[in-house]
Amino acid sequence: MKKQILKLVSILGLVFTALTIHAENITYSLEKQSFNANWQFAIIDNDQAAKPSFNDAKWRTISLPHDWAIEGPFSKKYSARNGGLPVFGTAWYRKRFVVPKQAEGKRVTVTFDGVMANSEVYVNGQLAGKRPFGYIGFAYDITDLLVAVGSENVIAVKTAPENYASRWYPGSGIYRNTWIELDNQTHIAQWETQISTPNISTSSAKVIAKTQINSFANAGKYDVSFDILDADERLVTAVEQTITTQIGNKNSVEAKLTIDQPIRWDVDNPYRYKVITTLRKDGNVIDTDIQPLGVRSIEYKADDGFWLNGRRVQIQGVCLHHDNGPLGAVVNERAIERKLEIMQAMGVNSVRTAHNPPSPELVELADKMGILLQIEAFDTWKKPKHTVVNGYHKYYDEWSEQDLTDTVRIHRNNPSVIMWSIGNEIYEQKKNDGWKYAKRLTSIVKAADPTRLVTAGLSDYPAFVKSKIADEIDIVGLNYKATEYGDIIKRYKGKPILGTETSSVVSTRGEYHFPVKPLEKHPSKYVSSYDNYAPYWAYIPDVEWYNLDKNPAVMGEYIWTGFDYLGEPTPYGGRDHGNKFYWNQDWPARSSSFGAVDLAGFPKDRFFMYQSRWTKKPMVHVLPHWNWPNKVGESIPVVAYSNAEEVELFVNGVSQGKKVMGVDTVRIPVALRYKKNIKHFDSPYRLQWLVNYQPGDIKVVAYNQGKVVAEKQVFTAGMATQVKLTADRHAITADGKDLSFITVDVLDAKGNLVPNADNLIHFSIEGPGKIIAVGNGDSATTEPFVADYRRAFNGKALVVVQSKKGKVGQITVTGYSKQLNVLPVQIESKQ
Ligand code: GAL
Repeated sequence: MKKQILKLVSILGLVFTALTIHAENITYSLEKQSFNANWQFAIIDNDQAAKPSFNDAKWRTISLPHDWAIEGPFSKKYSARNGGLPVFGTAWYRKRFVVPKQAEGKRVTVTFDGVMANSEVYVNGQLAGKRPFGYIGFAYDITDLLVAVGSENVIAVKTAPENYASRWYPGSGIYRNTWIELDNQTHIAQWETQISTPNISTSSAKVIAKTQINSFANAGKYDVSFDILDADERLVTAVEQTITTQIGNKNSVEAKLTIDQPIRWDVDNPYRYKVITTLRKDGNVIDTDIQPLGVRSIEYKADDGFWLNGRRVQIQGVCLHHDNGPLGAVVNERAIERKLEIMQAMGVNSVRTAHNPPSPELVELADKMGILLQIEAFDTWKKPKHTVVNGYHKYYDEWSEQDLTDTVRIHRNNPSVIMWSIGNEIYEQKKNDGWKYAKRLTSIVKAADPTRLVTAGLSDYPAFVKSKIADEIDIVGLNYKATEYGDIIKRYKGKPILGTETSSVVSTRGEYHFPVKPLEKHPSKYVSSYDNYAPYWAYIPDVEWYNLDKNPAVMGEYIWTGFDYLGEPTPYGGRDHGNKFYWNQDWPARSSSFGAVDLAGFPKDRFFMYQSRWTKKPMVHVLPHWNWPNKVGESIPVVAYSNAEEVELFVNGVSQGKKVMGVDTVRIPVALRYKKNIKHFDSPYRLQWLVNYQPGDIKVVAYNQGKVVAEKQVFTAGMATQVKLTADRHAITADGKDLSFITVDVLDAKGNLVPNADNLIHFSIEGPGKIIAVGNGDSATTEPFVADYRRAFNGKALVVVQSKKGKVGQITVTGYSKQLNVLPVQIESKQ
């Protein structure tokens, strides 16, 4: 009977295919293959779509990864807390595929790196599995749901993200990569290989490699080898053993290896070995698995911070949400790499994946680029947050063990990962039995990875002392507690302390409001960029630095945030308490201003402020811009950030005097929630001059031991005459994924950025590339991201160009803007 139905299904499928969409023929290979191409997609709430015979001919054909919410439109009917975008609803993805004849008798597994959210996967109409959490990778063995090899199968994925489910923009749909793998009946289990380095010295590193072999059939004698290869793919060491498997998934293998004279993985030399596990039967390779290996020692000292490879490394960290600005939640390797490159240029050495498990691509890039990761699992446990009525609390009981275990299993071999966070500002902090939750989750992490420590972002002091949550984690992670570091260190003697979330200053690139005063809602819906403004629970970077300097035991900080992200437009929009999620009162303010870098990837002044503390190469930065026609003769504060000893300001060539970093302080009004008596802070971390404005130029010159080490000059710009397009990369790969990010600058005749230019520019492209998104860092506009036009925002915009698969050649991007001369840019798309 079953066979007949299957036959019918496959005949229908073939007829249907002939009329419309071709099924993808999976290549025969034991390697995992991309499963991203040729999906049919529709926003539709119809469970019939699970059935193979369902007619999806009119649906859109798309490639994954895909985020349906980013296409918009922005609308007041969606909460600005979630970016003012349609992040909820039901949508389906369907794909036809044929498993080749050679795969007869193999196991077939599909893997999803993350689906937002409440996914249900059906294969030929039958449920393969459900997964509510949108940030976790999962895999289904679909062998028993497939029709005969050589015939067509239909996989259908329902995604049903809910409204009020997140405190930021989560994205929607299959926004991470998907994979299919053919395996022998006996094979290496996915995510079960565990590599650790218990002893490391200059002369050798001991490596323990463990894995698990699953035998669905053909149990018996197998050889398992572990080979360690160096970064040039040369064999360093290997070990082989023979095992006898039993049917089931309990066949574990463990081996010890030694690397002589290991090269360390470090932040400035992220040297990577890899471990190849090979399964052989009678000499024939029947499965392989590759895992990353970095030889590095990590220690967390209660009185002396974080140590990497035997030396203290101060955590210079940023919290990052997962979205890629105008691209939405879609995972794109180059977009993530660019984000991390910009962060590294600011001096960042660590990222906290706020507040959820990251994509594998981010973790691999962190391995490759030498960035330390704190991987966070949850923003909510069992107690719901504010008005996030459809948050993770709904799934906590049933899924938290599996989700947390998988978070760890998927990323535990990556050397970049230095700690796990079990939660951010979870409400159990205030519950008397909060410790029970923390204890349970910590033990789940330890079972999957005994080599790293566990933290959590705790915010409610002293409530978290009473609930004993901090007793159950290894590192006391503190959100916005700079002024309490001293107290907390005394209270938790023996435990390392970390600023898991700090600062939360808000600013908008290129905006300066006068007079400079404490945070207020401004009619522009932007925030002035004097880096003086923090909401009531937060504080300026200077306060954090002062307290870190006073308490060197603290490991360092993760600022909120490195990049602006979609959603949470504080101080605009709303507050969670008692407003039923109404975040639209300052519409169209719809994305955050917390970043040191804006949504388009352009540095704000704060980028340079952190650079002045976190980098050594001499630098100096000056703000504001110098176009104030209505302020001639009025006093304007000019601020400099520098890592040099002294800075001198020149206005129209006339020195305004040298100031000494750390000595000539700047008085900044501050409001600290927990220190009501503090009304201002005299900052030794920035310099300021009051200048009577005259058009012309300002120039800052930085000195070390009296010698000029860096300079920056800003001119009063004239009228906008030209638009310059600058590509971040002039050669991209023709793989249909790679990107070139093109910065659009509106300039005057002399080439100065016109700092308030808002010209509308229409872009056009020739050659084998497409414009997939535009942006400008404006947090309060409803202009779409998926478009080929954009207004400049404070002089700048961004165009994102993607290559076309297999199409090589020259791509030319140009534009049209009324009365402006647009200078085109060329990019080469190469094989
Ligand atoms: C923190 C929270 C973050 C973000 C931030 C804004 O309390 O953990 O997710 O909301 O506030 O300042």
